[in-house]
Amino acid sequence: MTHPILRTELCDLLDIEYPIVLAGMAEHAGIELTAAVSEAGGLGVLGALPMTPDELDEAIREIKKRTSKPFGVDTIAPLGLVEGEEDTPIDLKSFLAEDEGEFAETRDYIADLGRRMGIKVPGGIKLGMNNQGFNWSPGMTKKQLEVIYEHKVPVFAAGLGSPEFMIPEARKRGMKVMGVVGTAKQARKEASVGVDIVIAQGTEAGGHTGKVATLPLVPQVVDAISPTPVLAAGGIVDGRGLVAALALGAAGVWCGTAFLATPEAMSHAENKRQLVSAGESDTVITKTMTGKTARCIKNPLQAQYEKENGPLLPFPVQVLAASELIQYMSEEDDTLKHYWTFAGQGCGLVKELRPARDVLKSMVEEATRILEEGLPSRVKWNR
Ligand SMILES: Cc1cc2nc3c(=O)[nH]c(=O)nc-3n(C[C@H](O)[C@H](O)[C@H](O)COP(=O)(O)O)c2cc1C
Repeated sequence: MTHPILRTELCDLLDIEYPIVLAGMAEHAGIELTAAVSEAGGLGVLGALPMTPDELDEAIREIKKRTSKPFGVDTIAPLGLVEGEEDTPIDLKSFLAEDEGEFAETRDYIADLGRRMGIKVPGGIKLGMNNQGFNWSPGMTKKQLEVIYEHKVPVFAAGLGSPEFMIPEARKRGMKVMGVVGTAKQARKEASVGVDIVIAQGTEAGGHTGKVATLPLVPQVVDAISPTPVLAAGGIVDGRGLVAALALGAAGVWCGTAFLATPEAMSHAENKRQLVSAGESDTVITKTMTGKTARCIKNPLQAQYEKENGPLLPFPVQVLAASELIQYMSEEDDTLKHYWTFAGQGCGLVKELRPARDVLKSMVEEATRILEEGLPSRVKWNR
């Protein structure tokens, strides 16, 4: 017997086969993973945050060579770093201009902690205004967006910050815009300004995350903004998670951790090893990497930082203070056990590396089995 194809309204909206979207993951979801997920019938989304506009242009060209199917690009909307938005009331330039004060104190603390943990960055940790600093600036994001417009990328996802300002330009080019939220209040705001699809991300998620769990968050977001389609995110790694998300009213799922354990992910082999061996209690939410709450696999550097109550800067200045160490560690294999490997609580369900196509197909097949046979056979009706 052939199975019907599991589709939702999301598939029609985005012109994809299955309601499964690869979450944007900077430095992990690159050309290969994006193209593989789109080719397999989901929507691949490129994690573009650290890319210069030229790198982004090149990456989009490469994806188009590998797949003719729709795909997306994820970065942050220009945060109000100089415009004074509520959650980032900082002037990035003034922080970075000086080699003294809070910034220097935190950078020097991180350098010292790194040394004490046996991680020696040759030449010491310097002021963090390197390429990363440029990447977090509003000017940089605006240049990335110009590239995205030029290519008429089918979908843009804003991982942080509201994409409201870009909706008119996106519409002109037939692009769809998605925004990540962690509360129903944020979802209402996004829907009211015309965001096409809202991603409701629960605290279980890897990377930057909020406080509300996926199970209560998704239906509250659905109720708040219906008929705007909602993607459920956070802790969804298999067919059971997909069915649960659909039951909560989501039109599809936005999955990060599930696709990290694939050969196509750009993550370091050590990050992948940590991911497949981690259990559900092995992650922690910490501000020590970026200054904003982010979920990663527990590691000695983060644990010591928190034990010592080390100085912290607001997002995203913290990541600049730590950027030399981050960069060094990501290039030096033997330091990676100390590293902040972003991963969600669903990592306990990820046991092996599998090609992205297999991850997606098994998610669809398991969900289909549950919907067609599993649930009908387990639910007993007392009529
Ligand atoms: C390694 C990693 C990197 C991430 N980087 C980004 C990013 O650059 N932009 C973004 O919008 N979200 C980022 N996230 C969050 C994901 O987009 C997504 O919301 C999250 O992975 C969903 O939860 P899950 O990991 O339980 O599937 C990242 C998550 C991980 C695990």
